[in-house]
Amino acid sequence: MKNVVISGADRNIGLELAKQFLNRGWRVFAGRFLMELPLLDELKEKYPEALSIVPMDVSKEESVLAAAEQVAKEAGRVDMLIHNAAGFGDHSGQKGERTDYSTFAVPYNINALGAMRLVNGFLPLMKDSDIKRLCFVSSEAGVVSVAHRTEVSSYCMSKTALNMALRLMFNQLQPMGYTFRLYHPGWVRSARVEKPGDPVPTFEVDGKLMGKFWPWETAASAAEQFIEDRDWEDRLVLIDNEGAAWPF
Ligand SMILES: NC(=O)c1ccc[n+]([C@@H]2O[C@H](COP(=O)([O-])OP(=O)(O)OC[C@H]3O[C@@H](n4cnc5c(N)ncnc54)[C@H](OP(=O)(O)O)[C@@H]3O)[C@@H](O)[C@H]2O)c1
Repeated sequence: MKNVVISGADRNIGLELAKQFLNRGWRVFAGRFLMELPLLDELKEKYPEALSIVPMDVSKEESVLAAAEQVAKEAGRVDMLIHNAAGFGDHSGQKGERTDYSTFAVPYNINALGAMRLVNGFLPLMKDSDIKRLCFVSSEAGVVSVAHRTEVSSYCMSKTALNMALRLMFNQLQPMGYTFRLYHPGWVRSARVEKPGDPVPTFEVDGKLMGKFWPWETAASAAEQFIEDRDWEDRLVLIDNEGAAWPF
């Protein structure tokens, strides 16, 4: 059985990724950040053996190391690592208004440094895998050359930092046999409800459905891209859910 670890798997794209891998017969270690959300517990009832729920806050090294220890005890080996977790943070108009710069560090710590913590924490468990795949859910929001937004967004900046971290990791780890996937999920209707029981948004604004894809649609594309081998593993490319390559 192949083993995959997914960060931020409580809901939306992360949860749907867990389902995709379970349906394909993988053993899934689903990172839980939101202790009060029951969706992973419900999935566990359906897959009592194949799904393990692993508490993991990627913004804290000790939490990632404790998660890696749990996976080491339960499986001993990781074949695929998926950094899906993200924080969103603040933005500034940069027209003279005051900005709380401390909030800008929050998504950077989760999205970019979180990827580094995850790789550093789990890499020792991947050395005996014959797959050795490192997958990262990034975003077109971090692409500098085609950036179209006007607000200075901590989220966009953090995804740019993630992309650079990956490029540097790729330079180091690809020659050692690790393979990489850098994925943009498209504009997805992810429901960010504050607490269990809050109404799930309809995604309708003025009678129009906002977003382009449902989380399960992009998770299905991601799973295919993450699992499929490429005969061009010596290149790192940002690819979206429809298969289009982006500059990054
Ligand atoms: N939805 C889109 O249109 C879109 C577009 C481009 C890229 N993406 C990327 O797709 C990925 C999944 O996003 P999504 O749409 O499914 O949104 P999401 O539901 O917010 O997914 C991110 C998950 O990570 C969790 N998380 C936050 N901080 C964490 C931490 N410190 N440690 C571990 N987990 C943490 C979040 O919990 P909380 O909700 O409690 O913070 C949430 O469950 C993200 O990397 C996002 O940047 C999404």
